Amino acid sequence: MAESYLVLDQVAKSYPRPGQPPLRVLDGLDVAVEEGALLSILGPSGCGKSTLLNIINGLDDATSGTVLLAGKEVTTKTRSGVKIGMVFQQPRLLNWRSVRENVALPLREMGLGTDEIDARVRRYLDIVGLSEFSNYYPLQLSGGMQQRVSLARGLAIEPDLLLADEPFSALDEISARKLRQEFLRIWDRTGTTILFVTHNIREAVFLSTRMLVITARPARVHLDLPVEVPYPRRPDDDALFELEKSVTRDFMRMEEETGLTEIGS
Ligand SMILES: Nc1ncnc2c1ncn2[C@@H]1O[C@H](COP(=O)(O)OP(=O)(O)OP(=O)(O)O)[C@@H](O)[C@H]1O
Ligand SMILES: [Mg+2]
Repeated sequence: MAESYLVLDQVAKSYPRPGQPPLRVLDGLDVAVEEGALLSILGPSGCGKSTLLNIINGLDDATSGTVLLAGKEVTTKTRSGVKIGMVFQQPRLLNWRSVRENVALPLREMGLGTDEIDARVRRYLDIVGLSEFSNYYPLQLSGGMQQRVSLARGLAIEPDLLLADEPFSALDEISARKLRQEFLRIWDRTGTTILFVTHNIREAVFLSTRMLVITARPARVHLDLPVEVPYPRRPDDDALFELEKSVTRDFMRMEEETGLTEIGS
């Protein structure tokens, strides 16, 4: 069998706490992700989803276990060489730089030429519907617009692996729907492997090739489910509805069993 593109092997993460035992966030996660997958990650608030993306991106180290990306171990000190795009949960824009500059900056760091940078900035700002706002500064934008700039910045590097942390959460349903379609088009065209975190089960079912539901802290894999509905998918497809219902039920059962729904933790 071909080696998986991304392998999490017994990945655990604890954060030290003064005067208390460490906070156990991830508890020995074992996941193998195939190249080209569109994997959604769901789980209760505070269970460690953002932490997991940070570890995969080499921004944080696991306490134990290993992450292998394209056959190379990822830590904060050893990068895999894979081009990773990250769309953080908070947009993390540079407020003193224009929208255009925010998207262009990582491209400049990659050493791309000016023409290519200009073309990509235009293309991806157009995709997220912000062409008219390229000279604005982040603080002149709404929360949803800032999130779209952040998405454009992540997409513009044309990554091999995209890690997107609730990329559509601040958007109204119509804009989110358009962007999901765009997201799928980009995925289809480029073959990028995508991991995206969402709290929206319907969104996960509609977009992904596979859904990973993880438990409340310390996070373990609760459900690992392929979504075998062919693309292009229709949002009103009955098979998708059925899957959404069954995952929703399962989610509720999981919350009842763990007895833990940490709202806003
Ligand atoms: N740098 C850190 N130092 C200490 N604790 C942290 C740190 N980062 C995250 N945590 C803790 O780890 C736990 C998981 O946080 P994380 O942000 O990964 O959750 P999440 O699943 O992304 O939640 P949400 O759905 O609300 O975004 C939380 O209890 C959080 O307080
Ligand atoms: Mg998070």
